[in-house]
Amino acid sequence: MQIHTYDTVIVGAGGAGMRAAIEATQRSRTAVLTKLYPTRSHTGAAQGGMAAALANVEDDNWEWHTFDTVKGGDYLVDQDAAEILAKEAIDSVLDLERMGLPFNRTPDGLIDQRRFGGHSRNHGEAPVRRSCYAADRTGHMILQTLYQNCVKEGVEFFNEFYVLDLLLTTVDGVRRTAGVVAYELATGELHVFRAKAVVFASGGNGKFYKVTSNAHTLTGDGQAAAFRRGLPLEDMEFFQFHPTGIWKMGILLTEGARGEGGILRNKDGERFMEKYAPVMKDLASRDVVSRSIYTEIREGRGCGPDGDHVHLDLTHLPPEQLDAKLPDITEFARTYLGIEPYTDPIPIQPTAHYAMGGIPTNVRGEVLSTNTDVVPGLYAAGEVACVSVHGANRLGTNSLLDINVFGRRAGIAAAEYAADADLVELPEDPARFVADEVTRMRGATGNERVTVIRRALQETMDRNAMVFRTEQTLKEALEDITALRKRYRNVSVQDKGRRFNTDLLEALELGNLLDLAEVLVVSALARKESRGGHYREDHPHRDDVNFMRHTMAYREVDSQGNETIRLDYKPVVQTRYQPQERTY
Ligand code: FUM
Repeated sequence: MQIHTYDTVIVGAGGAGMRAAIEATQRSRTAVLTKLYPTRSHTGAAQGGMAAALANVEDDNWEWHTFDTVKGGDYLVDQDAAEILAKEAIDSVLDLERMGLPFNRTPDGLIDQRRFGGHSRNHGEAPVRRSCYAADRTGHMILQTLYQNCVKEGVEFFNEFYVLDLLLTTVDGVRRTAGVVAYELATGELHVFRAKAVVFASGGNGKFYKVTSNAHTLTGDGQAAAFRRGLPLEDMEFFQFHPTGIWKMGILLTEGARGEGGILRNKDGERFMEKYAPVMKDLASRDVVSRSIYTEIREGRGCGPDGDHVHLDLTHLPPEQLDAKLPDITEFARTYLGIEPYTDPIPIQPTAHYAMGGIPTNVRGEVLSTNTDVVPGLYAAGEVACVSVHGANRLGTNSLLDINVFGRRAGIAAAEYAADADLVELPEDPARFVADEVTRMRGATGNERVTVIRRALQETMDRNAMVFRTEQTLKEALEDITALRKRYRNVSVQDKGRRFNTDLLEALELGNLLDLAEVLVVSALARKESRGGHYREDHPHRDDVNFMRHTMAYREVDSQGNETIRLDYKPVVQTRYQPQERTY
């Protein structure tokens, strides 16, 4: 085991991690640990844009953007955080432009902007062009730009280092950050990174669904590590289904396609979103559009022999527009479906896309250990975190924005903290937990397979905890997860070696997914209302009297070692906007 010492350690090298690293490296001795090569991080899969009220092509302002974000999140958004997001969006985009990001341009040379779901002019009058974009490769361009700037700033990367544990040490009755433990993929060696400040920016956890836009690597490692150490997870019941995934595969087809004029149609060719969202139509918020798609399917108006999908129609758009603005997704349709989008509609279905919940933080990125206390030295930003700017449903293009605004804030706050703080003593035998887990897993001879358990988990989550939920489906999911957790104890890995043992890591990642799926389902069972991405058919209305509050889930272990999930609740921060009925 090697021990390294830094001021600031950042876990994850997607957009949030690298944006944090650019700031932290200028202020403190910083290391970035990432389980992937930085330019393979999942930010690269984000397509359609980054929201900012630049008003380059239409009248717009940050207050309208704040309102849309709060309404989009079905009023569960913390409004102070949403206001920061919308205000700082403008400088965030300009920072990226200065760093070299090749945004699409207007004929006058300004950053061009396109429409996106839920973004509106003057509190819902009509869609507004607010999303700054680089064709349908905006996330890819952000990732490349941030990586180049990290190289320029001399950021120190540890690539293919899996962080498997968070180290906290109690000093004068307060748990403080001491560092993290990482597993080096190339060698199988364990590394302890001692640090004054740690920033988790390790991304989402959507891989517990089968039809998902999430990469194989999105296994919630940061959320699971924090949860295991007794820290809460906030609002995990809210998981977003993006309306347009490629049918059966879930690969993302950007909402920017509808922003450019694409239309959703059922088997009769009807533009069905006009019924559900008369003003915003195909550009209503994602929760509304995904529910509308499944309503069409359930009522027999789905397309294809099984009636299990609908169509994204781009055939009325000029081929030159598709080539210039949507080159990747039109190519995806050709490659994965053999469809020519110039002439034929594309089969789509909602796809599990984004976790609104995560590790709770305040607006400086400091991680909360209770509703009010922070863990000194611990920060989180991006999809792993819940600040909460997305509430019960995130607006499209607010996530590339979130990683830039709150990645930057967390990087600055962590480095400033590290400048004043002393290193905390490491806990005794700091790598013990990870060493035991790795040894146990490598030596396990059980008859269960990781792939079989993961597939069963994904199937129950797709069947029971998706766009529509009831108490019965959620209970079924919980029973299945409990049974799968028992089977997981009997799992074995085929590769017993030390070098590049991805088999072993996938087994550990599966443990994370099982833990987090259970938190999602337990939190969803307790929320007996419908709000944003959490739609309970047995409680179809929003209930502000009883549920205008954030869920805080804690892992508790009794003296016999039995684990339970305890739920607590935290008030929502409301500043300007009173909850209203949400229509599009
Ligand atoms: O549709 C998209 O391009 C996805 C963007 C997002 O999730 O923000």
